[in-house]
Amino acid sequence: MNKSNKISTSIARPTTVAIKKAAGILRHGGIVAFPTETVYGLGANALDPKAVKKIFKAKGRPSDNPLIVHIADRSELSKFVLEIPLVARKLIAKFWPGPLTLVFKKSSAIPAIVSAGLNTVAIRMPRHPVAVALIRAGGVPLAAPSANSSTRPSPTQAMHVYDDLKGKLEMIIDGGSTDIGIESTVLDLTTKIPTILRPGAITEEMLLKILPKIRLAKKIKIAKSPGMKYKHYAPKTPVWLFTGTDDAKRTQQIFRAAFEKNRKKKFCLILNGHSSYLEEQGVFLLGSSHAEVAKNIYHALRRADTYGAHAIIVEGLPEKGMAKAIMNRLRKAAIKLIK
Ligand code: TXA
Ligand code: MG
Repeated sequence: MNKSNKISTSIARPTTVAIKKAAGILRHGGIVAFPTETVYGLGANALDPKAVKKIFKAKGRPSDNPLIVHIADRSELSKFVLEIPLVARKLIAKFWPGPLTLVFKKSSAIPAIVSAGLNTVAIRMPRHPVAVALIRAGGVPLAAPSANSSTRPSPTQAMHVYDDLKGKLEMIIDGGSTDIGIESTVLDLTTKIPTILRPGAITEEMLLKILPKIRLAKKIKIAKSPGMKYKHYAPKTPVWLFTGTDDAKRTQQIFRAAFEKNRKKKFCLILNGHSSYLEEQGVFLLGSSHAEVAKNIYHALRRADTYGAHAIIVEGLPEKGMAKAIMNRLRKAAIKLIK
């Protein structure tokens, strides 16, 4: 009957038994989604090119976009990189395990498919206990992009993974909502001056306490990180991002766009502020801090996408600290920027 190549996808709470089962799937060349502190990852044994290929297929990910290799112990790092510069040692001591991905010159242990043919490899040691337990139980490093369909918002809940990828992976470990909500900071250590390829919860300001100087990837002419050139993080409904820094003017612009000029059209509104996350008839309040906005933004974009609205109107944030990372994602999701 079932002529499609669909796999049945199970969802399990992160019990010891479930982690053991997932580890077995990984060791046998399968793919499994698991929670990390940033977003859910779609993992495969990084040392098995055939398994890694399944990740690209399930996500519909272009093959020139490399994957992050996840390890559970610092001692694993030396197997996968050619050298560990002094700055890396300092960063690792301070920020691992956690949401900082470091790009090194890769060793021959990493298959070309993982690094998309580059001579570098991105490595991260997550701090989520389920991710750590899974990597240790599998006994292999995990190549793992975010567990969404390519171009869609990253998943921060197991249901987001299921909605995007059901039938394409064996198992999803449900660890509840992820803590940070946006992907890790990616820092390239193979350039003369370390370069932030993707901003995240480990901010430039935090990195500058350890590094004397940092470059931002937007100033680089050629995209160093292939991921930078693709459309990203976007719901199907068009996103209009309001980036003005004058609060009163921005509120007025949003109000005009949603209620005055387009009376007959339906809009969703994603706004900042309010003590905790709230969704009410297509209006979303993300929370009072940057951390809460980051935690809730992808869920709100996915929910807003279910209203059949003409557009999703998103209120931007002044780009300081972690808000830089949030705005980086929102700019990529938006089809229209209103200053
Ligand atoms: O928080 C995260 O980083 C999540 C969780 C699952 O760990 N993972 C994640 O992976 O966001 P992904 O594949 O969605 O994003 C990885 C980013 C892409 O922009 C990719 O281009 C970049 O890292 N990247 C990977 N390897 C690289 C390399 N060797 N050089 C430059 N950029 C690289
Ligand atoms: Mg991704």
